[in-house]
Amino acid sequence: MQYRNLGTSGLLVSPICLGTMTFGAPVAEADAIRLTHAAMDLGINFIDTANVYEGYARFIGSAGGVAEEIVGKALLGRRDKAIVATKVCAPVGPGPQDRGLSATHILREVDRSLRRLQTDYIDLYIIHWPDREVPPETTLAAIEQTVRSGKVRSFGISNHSAWQMCEFHWLADRNGWPKAVSSQIPFSLLRREFQYDLDFCRKHGIGVTPYQALQGGLLTGKYRRGQPPPSDSRAAEKPDWIWKLDDPLFDKLEAAESLAREIGVPMSQYALAWTLTQPAITSPIVGVKRLDQIQDAVAAAAVQIPVEHLKQLDMTCPPPWRQHDPIRG
Ligand SMILES: NC(=O)c1ccc[n+]([C@@H]2O[C@H](COP(=O)([O-])OP(=O)(O)OC[C@H]3O[C@@H](n4cnc5c(N)ncnc54)[C@H](OP(=O)(O)O)[C@@H]3O)[C@@H](O)[C@H]2O)c1
Repeated sequence: MQYRNLGTSGLLVSPICLGTMTFGAPVAEADAIRLTHAAMDLGINFIDTANVYEGYARFIGSAGGVAEEIVGKALLGRRDKAIVATKVCAPVGPGPQDRGLSATHILREVDRSLRRLQTDYIDLYIIHWPDREVPPETTLAAIEQTVRSGKVRSFGISNHSAWQMCEFHWLADRNGWPKAVSSQIPFSLLRREFQYDLDFCRKHGIGVTPYQALQGGLLTGKYRRGQPPPSDSRAAEKPDWIWKLDDPLFDKLEAAESLAREIGVPMSQYALAWTLTQPAITSPIVGVKRLDQIQDAVAAAAVQIPVEHLKQLDMTCPPPWRQHDPIRG
């Protein structure tokens, strides 16, 4: 396993990050712990969770905490081998202080996350979503407190665009506050709206850890045009967590699959390997339900995508707009 720098954090992380959004349901606690141990035995040292994760049981405003508790149990006796990322912002209850990026919420949630994770520090504390009601300086000042108190080692941002990251960077510079070292965005062959924000991240030393690089399993070859989804797949078990299976989607999937066949790798590995070719990408976060899926993700880190394929993929799965570059074409 070749470890990579996570932005400017100084942390070396595996090129695949273990996602835990399915921990609790459909991945029961004992299986999730086994999966986490198997991932670590394969060399994965980077684990992504969030205060709200509780698998398929999640609804907006439910208390969360399930995945963090499982990760905490899985890491007993192995804490120093893992880089743990968790997040704050999404609602964890019905009350007005049960969500968002106020100092009150952040400082309360960081302690709850630490308790559930059974640790006294979080390697990477991530602002899960922007909160338009809270000035970014309020949020950053609270984050700075978490870092100064030793509860948090470095902080990251998720679901923010480049201008929002830029604002955080600018405020950090002006006030001597910590800078974000990572950005977690939805990004896959099928979903490239943040494509040009990657350039901002590359330029400013922000490691990008994209989520849903397999687009919830669509990019694994398990779904076939005109056929019902396999009964143990996300599309069958949790259809509101995955895109609709329609003809325009299958046009793209089939085009990408034919390229994956050319180099003799499974579509899942091809999709993850493609993600790793993109600027500033450190480690795609992969959700897994079974051991073979984590083994597959680890194998993807060694797959090389031919340069001609990258150009073809830009045609079949294009970013939302193409930047005209008169200098480099
Ligand atoms: N920051 C955010 O807002 C945010 C949002 C979403 C997710 N995340 C993070 O990103 C992680 C990944 O998200 P995700 O699980 O939705 O997306 P994903 O990684 O694209 O999809 C994971 C799903 O794909 C299927 N799969 C994985 N590997 C496979 C393989 N080799 N062959 C066949 N199927 C395979 C499995 O589903 P089935 O077997 O059930 O089909 C698995 O649960 C989460 O766990 C979480 O840590 C962050």
